Amino acid sequence: MVLNKRLPKKHKKIQLVTYLNADSVIADQFRTIRTNLKFLMEEKKSRVFLITSPGENEGKSTTVANLAVSIAQQKEKVLLIDANLRNSMLHQVFKIQNQTGLTDVLKGAISLKQAITFTDIGKLDILTSGPDVSNPTEILGSNDMASLLHDVADMYDIVLIDSPTILKSTETRVLANQCDGAVLVLHRGKTEMDKAVEAKRILDLAHANLLGVIINEK
Ligand SMILES: Nc1ncnc2c1ncn2[C@@H]1O[C@H](COP(=O)(O)OP(=O)(O)OP(=O)(O)O)[C@@H](O)[C@H]1O
Ligand SMILES: [Mg+2]
Repeated sequence: MVLNKRLPKKHKKIQLVTYLNADSVIADQFRTIRTNLKFLMEEKKSRVFLITSPGENEGKSTTVANLAVSIAQQKEKVLLIDANLRNSMLHQVFKIQNQTGLTDVLKGAISLKQAITFTDIGKLDILTSGPDVSNPTEILGSNDMASLLHDVADMYDIVLIDSPTILKSTETRVLANQCDGAVLVLHRGKTEMDKAVEAKRILDLAHANLLGVIINEK
């Protein structure tokens, strides 16, 4: 899967090209990735996918947000979860609230249904990160998170999860183990080969099901 078209570069401003310019070449590339994922879903009955990358700023959030839109445009019921509690972005990308979100659910403060935000992009729902917590590894590695993933798998056709770097954060390893599949985003020209190999090794150690690699290029 190659995503090789340039998006205009702005500082940490993620573009929803699949929504804003659905006829573009890059939107078409997301449709190709979507088709591949759908094939895997049907083949293996998989629903919950983690998007991660070896390092920071390699395009995880950009990729997962655009992929979620692309899949929702196909009338699938999609949940996008922002599990990057260290640098959450999805509420900014979709311009939605983040006063409440995943961390509140995991703390038992509100219900899952209360925390989910609906969008007007097909049946795309978003579970934003919620307020910052001091213990992201602990909270995402909890039994409550495992049971949340179990619940959302029953509620949606597909669940996509944004996460921090796999090499630097333990919670991503735990999440990779709990998802049906993981997709690695590699940044052409930025991700070093040894880091990509190390990321794969860690996913293997976590008994994650590595579905494929998306090459991002800007
Ligand atoms: N294909 C692309 N074309 C242009 N800009 C891009 C592309 N992919 C990512 N970017 C830009 O690079 C920056 C980092 O992207 P993004 O936030 O998606 O990475 P990330 O891996 O999620 O980062 P983090 O590790 O902080 O979670 C953002 O400013 C984003 O707009
Ligand atoms: Mg990100």
